[in-house]
Order: sequence, then structure tokens, then C-alpha cells
Amino acid sequence: TKPLRLGIAGLGTVGIGVVKIIRRQAALLEARTGRPVVISAVSARDASKDRGISLSRYAWESDPVALALRDDVDVFVELMGGHEGPAKAATEAALAAGKDVVTANKALLAIHGQALAEQAEANGQVIRFEAAVAGGIPVIKSLTEGLAGNEITRIMGVMNGTCNYILTQMQATGQGYNALFEECGKLGYLEADPNLDVGGIDAGHKLALLASIAFGTKPSFDDIQLEGIQRITLEDITQAADMGFRIKLLGVAQRSARGLEQRMSPCLVPASSPLGQLEGGTNMVVIEGDAVEQVVLRGPGAGEGPTASAVLGDICDLARGLRIATFGQPAASLQDVPAAQTGLP
Ligand code: NAP
Ligand code: HSE
Repeated sequence: TKPLRLGIAGLGTVGIGVVKIIRRQAALLEARTGRPVVISAVSARDASKDRGISLSRYAWESDPVALALRDDVDVFVELMGGHEGPAKAATEAALAAGKDVVTANKALLAIHGQALAEQAEANGQVIRFEAAVAGGIPVIKSLTEGLAGNEITRIMGVMNGTCNYILTQMQATGQGYNALFEECGKLGYLEADPNLDVGGIDAGHKLALLASIAFGTKPSFDDIQLEGIQRITLEDITQAADMGFRIKLLGVAQRSARGLEQRMSPCLVPASSPLGQLEGGTNMVVIEGDAVEQVVLRGPGAGEGPTASAVLGDICDLARGLRIATFGQPAASLQDVPAAQTGLP
């Protein structure tokens, strides 16, 4: 059978995680998809860096655009990050050359997802991005497939592992923000620019994508009411705990008569609730639909294995020939909805 041939750009936490799964589970992936899933070529900035595994069996491209354009690459896997520069240029080049794209890059999609999805659809390609939202939790698949019969009424959750780790550990150990921030780096949670994490921007990117998928609207990151966790002190955490609450960086999106309401900000949640008990780098997404009522998804939101797991889910769909459109419906049909910035409970 014809193999599905990948070009992987970015060999950091997520990229190396993907390479490891493809090696370790080659037989399982072939059995599940009906064809071998193979890596043709890889790319990163530093060809001489020790990445813990040998990559000598794959062709090396120092330019991600050249990687995307190779004849032996069917799917371009973008795991570099950043919403401009090589991630955007190579994704556009891959689509223009008729290749499907799998990415974990929420910043790229929250800002350019609409244009990229329209470009993909015009060429008959797809961009898949399960790993971009809530790490290992298959939340996009849940919305576009399992919950496709529902009108979604609200979506909310904790979508940044770094912030959840810092907030829960401040509460549990009394340690300060800086020590915990450093620990997140060791766990592989942090973005290349960690201000994206603690500033709530990374979680905002994820909320913009989920809201777009859930409500059939264009991603509108700029319309999110956004506040990070940098100003949360140990005293805030202790006072909240004394009243029976936890502080969580919580995202909420819902459609109302006024338009699409989106907020990502530190909130008090009851300590005994599922959200209040969510610890460490774990994420939780609560989806409410007219038929299903409420679904709660919980799982690791970051790190090598969980994020690579989500990337592999998308790759396997493409290997099977499942070509569900990026946002669950054609990007060209997504609506512009006025932003309603007040009124959330
Ligand atoms: P990372 O560890 O910083 O790795 C980034 C990789 O991209 C590195 O291998 C780097 O090369 C390469 N790279 C960066 N700029 C490049 C350029 N200009 N040309 C070629 N290669 C370049 O990042 P990561 O944590 O794996 O994250 C990758 C993507 O996944 C990001 O979009 C991130 O938001 C997303 N994501 C990450 C997680 C997570 O838990 N880490 C979870 C969900 C989504 P060098 O190694 O040579 O420097
Ligand atoms: N920096 C992100 C987080 C990685 O901490 O959740 C996963 O998207």
C-alpha cells in the first residue's frame, strides 16, 4: 500500500514526541490506517543539536519551505510555532503545492486560520490542528464529529497547562510564582515566548479557535476580553481558598442575542467543583449543547506525549482519507459575528 509520507518542521518538545510515536507504533499506525505512516524529511534550526534520538535516517532540510515543497512529502507537519515567519510561509507554501497540513500552532491559526483554511479549501486540501487546543484532549474531533448533531450553546474551560500548574501549585505548596514558572519550563509546558502563557494569550488563541468551531464563526482573537495571571498573588490564592474557592484562568465563549461573547481571565470557581479540583498541567473543556446537555473533557493539556498524541490523531485521519474541513464546516461559510463583550455570567 502507498505510505503516507510526512515532512516534519520543528524538532522540539512536540516534534520529537511525534517522531518517537511514529517509530514506536509503526505497526499499530499501519494496522489502524491501512497504510504505513513514514517520515521522509525533517527540519529545525540547528542540525547539530543532540535531540536524544538519531534522525540520520531522514533527509534534513534547513529551510522549512523547501521541506514543505519536497516531492516525497504528502503532509507537511508544522511544529515550529510562531504566527509569522517560517511557520506561516511554509504552511502557505505547502498548501499552494497541494499538500495537507497538520499543525499544533494555535497562534498561527487564531490569527491567520481563516485565510489559511480558505486557501486550503480552494485547493482541495485540509489543515488539521487538534494539538493546538487543549493538548492531548481530542476536543476538536469531539465538536466536529461526535457532537455534530448539537447546536452548541456554551463552551468553557481551563486551556493553559502552565497557568493551571502555577496556580494550583501556589495553592498546594505556598511556593512563589517564579520557582513554579521555572518548573513549567522543565516539564515542557512553556511556549517559546512564555509571556503568551502567563499573559493569557495562548489560552485566548485556543478559545478563539474553539469558539469558531463551536459557533460557526470566523476566529476573532482580538475580540476576546483577555487578562493573564501575572498579578495573582499568594494572598489572593489564600483568601480565595478561605472562602471555599480556587482561582483558575477560565475561558468562556457563548453566543447571545448581542453576538459572540468571549472572555479569558482569572476567575473564582468553587473548590469542590470539577474545575476547582483540576490540578497541574491538566486542561478541562466543558461543552454544552442543546441535545447532549453537557460534556466534560479532561486530560493533559501540554507536554511531549500528550501533544504528539493529538498530532498523530490528525495524521491518522489523513492516512485513512478522512478529510473533515478545518473548522468542521467550510471556512468560506464561517460568519462574521459582532463581538458582545459584556453579559457573561
Ligand atoms: P519547541 O520545543 O520550542 O520547538 C520548536 C522547534 O521548532 C525547534 O526544534 C526549533 O529548532 C524549530 N524552529 C523554530 N524556529 C525555526 C525556524 N525558523 N526554522 C526551522 N526550525 C525552527 O516548541 P514546542 O513546545 O515543540 O512547540 C511547537 C508548537 O507546538 C508550537 O506552535 C506550540 O505552540 C505548539 N504546542 C506545544 C505544546 C507543548 O506542550 N509544548 C502543546 C500544544 C501545542 P531548534 O530545535 O533547532 O531550535
Ligand atoms: N504552553 C501551553 C500550555 C502548551 O501551557 O498549555 C500547550 O498548548
